[in-house]
Amino acid sequence: MKILVIGSGGREHAIVKKVLESPKVTEVFCAPGNAGTAIDAKNVNIGVKEFDKLIEFAQKEAIDLTIVGMENPLVEGIVDAFEEKKLPVFGPRKKAAIIEGSKAFSKDLMKKYNIPSAGYETFNDSKSAIEYLKCSKYPIVLKADGLAAGKGVLICNDFEEAQKGVKLIIEDKQFGSAGDRLVVEEFMTGREVSVLAFCDGSRILPMTSAQDHKRAKDGDQGLNTGGMGTFSPSPFYTKEIDEYCKKYIYQRTMDGMKAEGRDFVGILFVGLMLTAEGPKVLEYNARFGDPEAQVVLPRMKNDLVEVCEACIDGRLDEINLEFEDNASVCVVLASDGYPEQFKTGYPIHGLHRFDNEKDYMVFHGATKLEGDRIVTAGGRVLGVTAKGKDLKEARRNAYEATRWIEFDNKYMRNDIGKAIDETD
Ligand code: AMP
Ligand code: GLY
Repeated sequence: MKILVIGSGGREHAIVKKVLESPKVTEVFCAPGNAGTAIDAKNVNIGVKEFDKLIEFAQKEAIDLTIVGMENPLVEGIVDAFEEKKLPVFGPRKKAAIIEGSKAFSKDLMKKYNIPSAGYETFNDSKSAIEYLKCSKYPIVLKADGLAAGKGVLICNDFEEAQKGVKLIIEDKQFGSAGDRLVVEEFMTGREVSVLAFCDGSRILPMTSAQDHKRAKDGDQGLNTGGMGTFSPSPFYTKEIDEYCKKYIYQRTMDGMKAEGRDFVGILFVGLMLTAEGPKVLEYNARFGDPEAQVVLPRMKNDLVEVCEACIDGRLDEINLEFEDNASVCVVLASDGYPEQFKTGYPIHGLHRFDNEKDYMVFHGATKLEGDRIVTAGGRVLGVTAKGKDLKEARRNAYEATRWIEFDNKYMRNDIGKAIDETD
C-alpha cells in the first residue's frame, strides 16, 4: 500500500514511523513533512491547505490511504474533498471536525448530551462578556472559540485580568477570527489526562492514556505551548476512571455526534481533568495529539494502517487494541524562546545516535534539510522518546537521550513526567 501523511510536525513523523512498521505498506509520503520524514519517507512539497494539489498528487501516485495529522485541514474539510474524489482518507469530515474547530459547539454538545464538563457561557461581544465577568467566581477561564494552536486559552485570576483577556480575544483579535466568539468557562482543578481514541462513526476505542506538559517552563510556569513533553500511561488514569469515561464521556460523545448527523470517524482526542467530582472534559481535538502521538504510538502493538481502515469501513468491532506493558516519555527539544521569539537555522548534531535503537526514538518536529545538514526550523524542533519498564525508567532513559543531541539554542523542560514520582 502507498500511504500519504499530511502535516509536518513530530506527530506526523511518529505516524510515518508507525505506518512503516505495517507489512502492508510499500511506500510512504509526507506533505509537506520535515527532515525526519524526508529520511524515513518521501516528502512532497505541497502545503496542508492546498487540497487540489494534494488530491492531484494522491490520484497520480494512486495513494491507497491518506492520514491527516493536523487539525486545520480537517476543520476546513480536507476529508470531504478527498472523499468527493473517492480517495480513501482517515480523519473526520468537516461537519465532525467542528468538535475541535469550535469550542462553543463542543460545549453545547456536552451540555445537550449530559457529558461531564465545566459550566460555561458563550459571548459574541465584549460588553456582555464583561458584564457577566463582573459577578463571576475566580479564577475563571476564557477560550477563543476557534483554532488557536493550543494557545487560545487564558486563565484569569481576577476581574481585571478577565477584562484584559476579553479585550485581547474579542477586540484586539490576538487569535484572529478564532476570537469572534468567546467561551467563558468555570475553572477546574485536578490532574490532566489525554486519551486518544479510534472512532468509526458509531464505535470508539480508546488507546492507552498520556499526559502532556503544556507550559513552557519547569513547574508548569510560563506560557502555554503546543506541548513540551508527554508520558504514557498516566498512573492517575485508573481502571475505574477508564470505565467511567467509557460510559459517561466517550460513548456519549460518539452517540451525540451521530444524533447531530456528524458521525465522527478518525481520532478523537479527549482532554480530561480528573476533578474531585470525577473526570470532566477539558477539550476535544479531532486528531492525534502532538506530542501525545510520540508516546502512545510507539507503545501500540497493532498495525496502524489496519486500524485506520477499520475506522473508515465502520468495523472497529473487529479490532482489539493492544499496548505494550511498559511506559514511554517524550521530551521536546525546543528553540529557546518558544512559544515567543526564537532563532532557527542551527545545525543539529547527534541524530545518528538513535539509529538501530529500539527503545530510544527521535521524532523530528521543526527541522529541515539544508544541503546535507539538518537544521532547526521552528519552535518544537525534536521529540526525544524513550521506553522503560515503568515511567521512572522511561523518564531516566529519555533524559539520557536528550544529551545525545546538540544544537545552538536548545531548550527543554527538565521535569517532564516528574509528577509521577509523587506516587512512589
Ligand atoms: P484546552 O486547549 O482547552 O485544553 O486548554 C489548554 C489548557 O488550559 C488545558 O490543558 C488546561 O491546563 C487549561 N484549561 C482549559 N480549560 C480549563 C478549565 N476549565 N479549568 C482549568 N484549566 C483549564
Ligand atoms: N499536545 C496537545 C495537542 O496536541 O493539542
